[in-house]
Amino acid sequence: MGEEEVSNKQIILKDYVHGFPKESDFLLKTSSTIKLKLPYDSHDAVLVKNLYLSCDPYMLNRMREADASYPTPFTPGSPINGYGVSRVVDSSHTSFSKGDLIWGITGWEEYSLITDTSLLFKIQDADLPLSYYTGLLGMPGMTAYAGFYEVCSPKKGETVFVSAASGAVGQLVGQFAKLMGCYVVGSAGSKDKVDLLINKFGFDAAFNYKEEEDLNAALKRYFPDGIDIYFENVGGKMLDAVLLNMRLRGRIAVCGMISQYNLEEHEGVSNLFCLVIKRIRMEGFVVPDYYHLYPKFLELVLPHIRDGKLTYVEDIAQGLESGPAALVGLFSGRNVGKQVVAVAHE
Ligand SMILES: NC(=O)c1ccc[n+]([C@@H]2O[C@H](COP(=O)([O-])OP(=O)(O)OC[C@H]3O[C@@H](n4cnc5c(N)ncnc54)[C@H](OP(=O)(O)O)[C@@H]3O)[C@@H](O)[C@H]2O)c1
Repeated sequence: MGEEEVSNKQIILKDYVHGFPKESDFLLKTSSTIKLKLPYDSHDAVLVKNLYLSCDPYMLNRMREADASYPTPFTPGSPINGYGVSRVVDSSHTSFSKGDLIWGITGWEEYSLITDTSLLFKIQDADLPLSYYTGLLGMPGMTAYAGFYEVCSPKKGETVFVSAASGAVGQLVGQFAKLMGCYVVGSAGSKDKVDLLINKFGFDAAFNYKEEEDLNAALKRYFPDGIDIYFENVGGKMLDAVLLNMRLRGRIAVCGMISQYNLEEHEGVSNLFCLVIKRIRMEGFVVPDYYHLYPKFLELVLPHIRDGKLTYVEDIAQGLESGPAALVGLFSGRNVGKQVVAVAHE
């Protein structure tokens, strides 16, 4: 490789997005090139070949103009970035060597020069599918782990409800709840996803929220004695209905509110007084606050994956050019399981 300069396809955000994101908000740039060697004066940087890229709902918030409450927006005209799995091609960082596999924040392009290495993790267990490090063994896995075990403080026998339950995070929360001996119900947006929840991930029950006219009645059907733990992924009407069905001293881990991300004006929530009378603890969290627990998380999940007790469904789009459609598909529920983009198979 050496000083070799190669073509480097990139996914560019054309301009800030309003409302629902569209595939046409992005373009595939084919004219860029990159040297497969770090500049001689580089320090603490890595040059990587990207193998898998992760499509995550939070990326939509980065497609909008600066919002003080959220991470830095993408720069229109430049490649977007996000979580991914990559092979180190060259390194000036003591923790990473040429040939290492890593996961963390990288560019939506074939090769990336990463100067902020604070969110890079070296992959030690490469016998499992590498794409898992965008999901089960990466950021979404840590999100499910932190939100369920750390925020919800679950106990055996408790009742658990998970929304967006077949997605990257939700499918794991449900399986963690079953491992803990809880009763778990999930909601999802299609019959196929509902089947997956019950037959693949072992949820006790599941329902298609799009077919329920009265979410309160649906929750009462599945939780006649109420919900101890709600893992919140969607917000809006579902949150309002859940509040009515929570039990005394229930816990709500607010992981995300995808139903609200595309709205110009967020929906109101009417039943917050339930927090008071039922002594409910409702707590938001962001996964980077818990990355110090990553080794403990691996200790829990790796044996379960290897002995088949923990399973994972991925939706893999092939080729960098399929990235924009895969990413915007998250907001219409097109993805079945964790949405990944395979950029290169090495
Ligand atoms: N706090 C954190 O640090 C953190 C980290 C990662 C993710 N999150 C949040 O966790 C949630 C799940 O993320 P994920 O990565 O697992 O995504 P995902 O579930 O794999 O994909 C998103 C899913 O959301 C559902 N959805 C889309 N629009 C919806 C709407 N209007 N109402 C209800 N459901 C809708 C769709 O499934 P259906 O077909 O079932 O509708 C879609 O497949 C998101 O809110 C995300 O922002 C938070």
